[in-house]
Amino acid sequence: MCGIVAYKGHKNCYPILLNGLKRLEYRGYDSAGIACLNSDNKLSITKRRGKVRELESAITNIDCDGMGIAHTRWATHGRPNQINAHPHTDQSKKIVLVHNGIIENYIPIKKFLLSKKVKFKSDTDTEVLVQLIGYFYNKGKMNFEKAVRAALQRVDGAYGLVILNKDYPDMMIAARKGSPLVLGLKDSEFFIASDISPIIKHTQQILYLKDSEMVVIDGKDYNVKSVNKDIALPKNIEMIDYKIDDYDKGKFKYFMHKEIHEQVDTIANTMRGRIRPDAVLLHGLSEYWDEIEASDRIYITACGTSWHAGLIGKLLIEKFSDTPVFVEYASEFRYNHTLIDSQTVVIAISQSGETADTLAAIKKANDYGAVTVGICNVPGSSVGRETDCGIYTRCGHEVGVASTKAFTAQISILYLLALKLAYAKGTISRASLKRHLDYDDSLKKIQSLFHQEKLIQKVARKYKNATDFLYLGRGLNFPVALEGALKLKEISYIHAEGYPAAEMKHGPIALIDKNMPSVFIVPKDKTYEKIISNIQEIKSRKGKIIIVTNSRDKILKELANDLIIVPRSNIYLFVHLATIVLQLFAYHMAVINKRNVDQPRNLAKSVTVE
Ligand code: G6P
Repeated sequence: MCGIVAYKGHKNCYPILLNGLKRLEYRGYDSAGIACLNSDNKLSITKRRGKVRELESAITNIDCDGMGIAHTRWATHGRPNQINAHPHTDQSKKIVLVHNGIIENYIPIKKFLLSKKVKFKSDTDTEVLVQLIGYFYNKGKMNFEKAVRAALQRVDGAYGLVILNKDYPDMMIAARKGSPLVLGLKDSEFFIASDISPIIKHTQQILYLKDSEMVVIDGKDYNVKSVNKDIALPKNIEMIDYKIDDYDKGKFKYFMHKEIHEQVDTIANTMRGRIRPDAVLLHGLSEYWDEIEASDRIYITACGTSWHAGLIGKLLIEKFSDTPVFVEYASEFRYNHTLIDSQTVVIAISQSGETADTLAAIKKANDYGAVTVGICNVPGSSVGRETDCGIYTRCGHEVGVASTKAFTAQISILYLLALKLAYAKGTISRASLKRHLDYDDSLKKIQSLFHQEKLIQKVARKYKNATDFLYLGRGLNFPVALEGALKLKEISYIHAEGYPAAEMKHGPIALIDKNMPSVFIVPKDKTYEKIISNIQEIKSRKGKIIIVTNSRDKILKELANDLIIVPRSNIYLFVHLATIVLQLFAYHMAVINKRNVDQPRNLAKSVTVE
């Protein structure tokens, strides 16, 4: 989704802003733009459709000693072209703005402005906002800050924005509602961005703007204020400890590949400090633990990959603790008739912590009085702030658009939560808890999995021209199948569907022929024999069979066209192992098909619109 970076300080703005935009590229975008206001009051704006490198080569004079704002746009209103790219200016060309989010009531505002003879250049909702600010400002009665406030009070929807005004060559204003915005501070330098990735290189002192807050930077000073009233608010500065390594590919060509390989370390990080030989410690839940333990119903709500983690969470929590769990897409949960009250726990899972639908679902749960629990990867994000309590997945910044390490971190947390709940409710014994918590060996098994990567790459080469795939698994491995299929779709644009293995008979089997591969996920568990029957059903229709298993049985060798054997493990670890195999398979399919793995077409890392 759209990205913002802004800088005010004594250094040349251009390199800081352009490097910042490159850091934001992972979010997905289709055009980019930059506006710099020099100390001699000269405003230069450059915009381009396409990548940041195209913007960079279009800038002729790369020198600015004042301040600047920059943007990567993921089109919502208006086609992805140069005119619709940000920054946008008002009619007087004094006020310039970059914006993330959607102004929902832009049509009536536009009508009003048109009636006042305001002329529009683009099709965007953003231009409507900057023209409205310009309208209030140019009427002559309001100063810059007041004009911004007046406009923001009249718009519905979501915004994260940064604004400059030629008449105020030492002032920068930023505001947020719904769309995240972060301020980085370093002596007399200010950095503003939609997430910390462009800032982390410069400073660790961060201020996360809250909803309906604005920051007014004037010279070397700044104030946090309310958008609704001219009152100063506290400056809650945090020191963040993100590692700069998270933003470098290291020896890998793509972030996604690096992040797949990081999973031994990230899972260890997720678990660290949370496991005693016979207890699970989830300090983030302490304050609400009594309510969580007493709850008679749990909802899990999320989007995309996080929703798949939720499906696994449901099976784990139900199995271990006998508590009924319902899993709903956040976009459905927010509008459906859901049975929530103060006895219900609503768990929201989100890597970014900023997904608009998930935030709306949390709001609904809060309004109904449920206990809301966030499982999220980004400290300071909206999910962390809007939920009653929560657990951070601590897997470091995830850059690849296709989520990998965040997924295994989420399912690790859900595993811990399920065990903690079960032990508290007395549905598992101390001995059983102890057995489940012994995971050192698991990390070694995950590490050893990467020895199979050459084989997985070979299998990918073999199927590189396939146009459709079925992914089939049962129980915990049905969500793994869904996630495997999603990974393939996302980054190689190959159609893939996940199904419960037996359900395949009720429709998808009609698709099977010699050109259609099916990926079976086959742990040696209670459904093993049944899955073998499902494989046979496909085999007898000449379908190609790829099997991911932890069994060395001869029958699998006979049935499979391609067999990937992962280390022997219990079914809980198998979920991680199979997931990583499918991540690697999708990755190699994408690379072989020459896809842009980290920035797949049309997708965004963090979906901050409904
Ligand atoms: C986007 C991303 C997915 C992600 C989903 C939910 O669609 O491309 O990778 O799973 O959003 O994001 P969240 O940050 O809430 O987990």
